[in-house]
Amino acid sequence: MSDSMQAETPAVDPLRLAPGDGARARIGRLLDPTSFVELGSQRRHRATGFGLESRQPDGDGVVAGTGSIDGMAINVFAQDRRVLGGSLGEAHADKIARTISQAARGGVPLVGINDSGGARIQEGVAALDGYGRVFSANVAASGRSPQLSLVLGPCAGGAVYSPALMDFTIMTDEAYMFLTGPRVVKAVTGEDVDARSLGGPEVHGQRSGSAHFVVDDDEAAFAVTRELLGYLPSSSGSPPRQAPPEAPPQTDLRALVPTDGREPYDVRDVIRGVADGGRFLEVQEHWARNLVIGFSRIDGRTVGVVANQARWLAGVLDGTASEKGARFVRFCDAFGIPLVVLVDVPGFLPGTAQESGGVIRKGAKLLHAFTSATVPRVSVVLRKAFGGAYIVMNSRSIGADAVLAWPGAELAVMGAEGAADIVFRRAIEEEPERRDELVASYRADAMHADLAARRGSVDELIDPADTRAALKSLLASLRGARQHGFVHDNLPQ
Ligand code: HXC
Repeated sequence: MSDSMQAETPAVDPLRLAPGDGARARIGRLLDPTSFVELGSQRRHRATGFGLESRQPDGDGVVAGTGSIDGMAINVFAQDRRVLGGSLGEAHADKIARTISQAARGGVPLVGINDSGGARIQEGVAALDGYGRVFSANVAASGRSPQLSLVLGPCAGGAVYSPALMDFTIMTDEAYMFLTGPRVVKAVTGEDVDARSLGGPEVHGQRSGSAHFVVDDDEAAFAVTRELLGYLPSSSGSPPRQAPPEAPPQTDLRALVPTDGREPYDVRDVIRGVADGGRFLEVQEHWARNLVIGFSRIDGRTVGVVANQARWLAGVLDGTASEKGARFVRFCDAFGIPLVVLVDVPGFLPGTAQESGGVIRKGAKLLHAFTSATVPRVSVVLRKAFGGAYIVMNSRSIGADAVLAWPGAELAVMGAEGAADIVFRRAIEEEPERRDELVASYRADAMHADLAARRGSVDELIDPADTRAALKSLLASLRGARQHGFVHDNLPQ
């Protein structure tokens, strides 16, 4: 390589890499070698008071700039916990907000590494206003550039609200996220709680849903970041990613799904059975597990998959699953990613806990997200689709481009037992021994997918073995359904 070419390719200077979890070292490990170009490394805060005038580190505790990941141009910032706790003051905020805004302007993804105690307490309102500018930049970029947030240490306040405004949060086992740390909790409420119980990976991976991926360590977080970016376009104005098409592993799809509608199975096996190379990147794997969401490829092109998970709460829809699905559908719609929906749903979960927990409001989010989505969207009813959940799970009536069904699938207002008990209540009271017969007659006369196919609610009954071929052809035919460009933001749900 000539000297002049070397001069055009600025390298990360190994002498400036901090050991361990330093921000520059992290960026160096995440990005393509020598791709990072830093901006603002000499920026310093101008705050005074609380001894800050004698603590003016270069870069003000955050490293920011441009680079690439697997050849894809990105903007990146990384907070450094070792510098003023990674806390965000005015100068620190300006650097982050600028990095986010320029990602949106340039149409490239934003990757932010958060490792910060939040607003720099010594800088007061200037720090809060700084977060206001960061949040504004996050919101302005929403739906334009994919925004990925890595939470790699104890994060509080704005350092968790900025990730919440972004599209995906990747959290390590060593990280915490909370609005206020244990000491403040103790002071304000008297509650004694340790950091992990307050905001550790179990809390956000399993219960709050605030982390989309929970991984062991920094390296695993970088690996997920690369994998996720591999599915995404650079921006909503960019064409979709195209990978070399790959056949899925040989799978007997019919055998994966028991015919008895109450028997469990893992719908992820079905997804892998139709996906290129059997690959599926599951999002929010341990939260609201009755609905599976994530990314795969069909014929080399990214699809967003939404699937009822029969092995968890029998695949029923509830408020939490609805919120999970809704935001994912909105993300896919914002970034032009076609949706493949695998339906096997017994309905919405009934009961006082759901009603008072807002299942009407939350279910409406999923209904709204699917109904308003303009990306190509194809449903496959694997086994059953009952009641309101039938409508919500991307039915023809709310705009699915195509609904396919496997033979034996059932579509109805409710399951046969429940329906017969209502429709034939008098007959069953008079002759209880006839219940099985009446249930069977309801099933035959009102539920079979061929009835739905005859009236056009199902477009075609397909052999399970033909599922991938059908999806491939339909998605290819719908390729021009939408122009690239900004459609809407990705409102936190
Ligand atoms: C200034 C801070 C800081 C902050 C930490 N530090 N947070 N400095 N402003 N917000 C400094 C500490 O003083 C310490 O400095 C160093 O960082 C390491 O902090 P420790 O507490 O020793 O570390 P650890 O025990 O790991 O605890 C990390 C922590 C805790 C859980 C994040 O520091 C903490 O609770 N910080 C305050 C969190 C908080 O309430 N932030 C304000 C949020 S309000 P030295 O010099 O001793 O090494 C906000 C506004 C936006 O962000 C709100 C949006 C809704």
